[in-house]
Amino acid sequence: VSRESDDSLTAVVVAAGSGQRFGGDKLFAQLSGSPVLAWSLDELARCPSVRSIVLVLSEENARRGQALVRRLGLERVVTTCLGGPRRQDSVMHGVQAVEGARWVAIHDAARPFVTVDLLERGAQVAREIGAAIAAVPVKDTIKLVPVPPLVESTLPRAHLWAAQTPQIFQWEQLSQATLTLGGRDVTDEAELLERVGLPVAVYPGSYENLKITTPDDLALARAIARQRRRKSVAS
Ligand code: CTP
Ligand code: MG
Repeated sequence: VSRESDDSLTAVVVAAGSGQRFGGDKLFAQLSGSPVLAWSLDELARCPSVRSIVLVLSEENARRGQALVRRLGLERVVTTCLGGPRRQDSVMHGVQAVEGARWVAIHDAARPFVTVDLLERGAQVAREIGAAIAAVPVKDTIKLVPVPPLVESTLPRAHLWAAQTPQIFQWEQLSQATLTLGGRDVTDEAELLERVGLPVAVYPGSYENLKITTPDDLALARAIARQRRRKSVAS
């Protein structure tokens, strides 16, 4: 397959988790009348830079996920594949499914409030630096506690950013870093590039671009969803 010469990207939306901390299928929980998963798919499909989307599903939610894609009328933009045991396995399944793409944007389906503006700003930074991840400055003071309950030290907050998605990479660099590092556990794909010494930039995400992890996140997400729906009706 030949590399795309243009700057368009393929989004890989990972939705193959089991929602253990949430206690159930968080991606089909309702937010203002649409499932969590629908919010990011809809928004990413609207991005001028996004030419296609690979939705990574689990054995358990594959049929439901595919039905949602049809219901949203996105079957020409979205293809699906099956994930793996760890998030990073699901990401790699999606990335392998888009061999031939030059740029990939990895996104957690559990972050419903990604916006066109956020993705496009990230794509711009990635084109300049090589790879770019959404992140926000940490608001809390972070303590290093290797052996609880004793605090070892306080990390310098001015240097700390909390990573989000989208995370945008060159397909080639991400695949190469993954191969080089084998199956090493990482919590995001940027860490793979960092470890092989490739540059990764942060770009401003947003505090609203939250990840639904536990049930209390859903209450906050519902408030944000209501506000967004009101705004889109008003405009
Ligand atoms: N994910 C995935 N494949 C996995 C694990 C996670 O595609 N094997 C996806 C989730 O569906 C989610 C995103 O990665 O969209 C972020 O993961 P997380 O918030 O941890 O979701 P879960 O793994 O489902 O939740 P938990 O860790 O509580 O089980
Ligand atoms: Mg998880």
